[in-house]
Amino acid sequence: MATPKLMPFFILVVFHTMLSSSSGSNSDLFYPSAKGIRAAYFPSFNSFSPSSIDTQYFTHIYYAFLVPEPSTYKLNVTEFDQARIPEFIRALRTKKPAVTTLLSIGGGGSNSTTFALMASTQATREAFIRSTIQVARKYGFQGLDLDWEFPEDAVEMSNLGLLFEQWRKALDNEARVTGKPRLLLTAAVYYAWKFTVYGGPRSYPAAAITKYLDWASPMCFDYHGSWDDFTGMNAALYDSKSNISTHYGIGSWIEAGVPPKKLVMGLPLYGKTWTLKDPKVNGIGAPASGVGPGDGILVYRQIVDFNSRTNATVVFDVESASYYSLSGSTWVGYDGVRSANVKVRFAKSLGLGGYFFWALGQDNGWDLSKQASNAWKY
Ligand SMILES: *[C@@H]1O[C@H](CO)[C@@H](O)[C@H](O)[C@H]1NC(C)=O
Ligand SMILES: *[C@@H]1O[C@H](CO)[C@@H](O)[C@H](O)[C@H]1NC(C)=O
Ligand SMILES: *[C@@H]1O[C@H](CO)[C@@H](O)[C@H](O)[C@H]1NC(C)=O
Ligand SMILES: *[C@@H]1O[C@H](CO)[C@@H](O)[C@H](O)[C@H]1NC(C)=O
Repeated sequence: MATPKLMPFFILVVFHTMLSSSSGSNSDLFYPSAKGIRAAYFPSFNSFSPSSIDTQYFTHIYYAFLVPEPSTYKLNVTEFDQARIPEFIRALRTKKPAVTTLLSIGGGGSNSTTFALMASTQATREAFIRSTIQVARKYGFQGLDLDWEFPEDAVEMSNLGLLFEQWRKALDNEARVTGKPRLLLTAAVYYAWKFTVYGGPRSYPAAAITKYLDWASPMCFDYHGSWDDFTGMNAALYDSKSNISTHYGIGSWIEAGVPPKKLVMGLPLYGKTWTLKDPKVNGIGAPASGVGPGDGILVYRQIVDFNSRTNATVVFDVESASYYSLSGSTWVGYDGVRSANVKVRFAKSLGLGGYFFWALGQDNGWDLSKQASNAWKY
């Protein structure tokens, strides 16, 4: 998930899918679950207090992140986490309305080789799985989430499928033995097919995901950034010039056969910044001489502040359902209130299970969280 690590340019090739014909049943379209999955990640390392989370906008909150130790594959619950997790669980346990808490494992800054080694044998998977259950139960989480960025090739993708199978069986078994409600099992993913972020073209194990996960969460963001020498949208809904868009990415999952209800679409609470080569050439795709403020990344509340402080010109681009703002030679592309509205309606119209935000603490008050939640409900 978005961390200081930056994504290289990539080309996404998926089959064009007629989304309207592959959406859920009519009842999904016309009577979508009023509640839906309205999730958000809580980055443990930022200063945002878990007690300030307004749970009326969310149903599920992920604690991000723990990582497995490199030789035992047991979760490393650091001293920091030993204090932060109980604070998180305590704060959320008493909230009304109630939210479901999940422990997320991995993250964009974690070591993907450790995940690959862990997933490569039955015994190492077992050590990891046991530890995840032990930690989840010890602290009172209600679910487990994997954010392995990213399995690098077909073998690692196949091992990921084996991991999900073994993990889900262990969770079913543990629930049977203890009589406790089964822990949820979810994963943050990229596009389903032939994506080339960090490695050659490869596809996720869609059948195992359908069978063993409660849902998968495509990370529909980081499409453009500091690695591009031109301006671009972080999370375009549509892009007529490329297949790097949420429409293509979500479409790839539906085409791969994962039921829409098992897909929870990612929404970013941050945008990307550039310095324009020529302030007069300032549209989407304009030449850039480098990154802009925030070393190329500003969170939504910083963008709102930037726009008002600099009296920036703000443009809403209908195709990408994204905004860009301009001030002097600074260019910022981001998701704002209309983006949240349009994208959540898009997710709902396809019969998706819901949406998630990366990340809590980045919104401007609760502006986008509230907009998305309302768009889902009404
Ligand atoms: C656990 O994480 C801490 C903090 O990053 C690190 O100092 C420690 O070496 C890790 N332990 C193991 C066994 O990897
Ligand atoms: C990642 O983990 C592998 C194996 O556990 C190790 O060899 C490698 O040095 C680690 N890389 C980093 C950047 O820590
Ligand atoms: C998008 O993907 C489709 C199907 O693979 C392909 O025909 C089309 O050329 C791609 N478009 C772009 C702009 O890459
Ligand atoms: C802000 O920009 C608008 C139009 O770009 C201009 O009319 C207005 O005077 C500016 N206000 C300030 C305080 O700079």
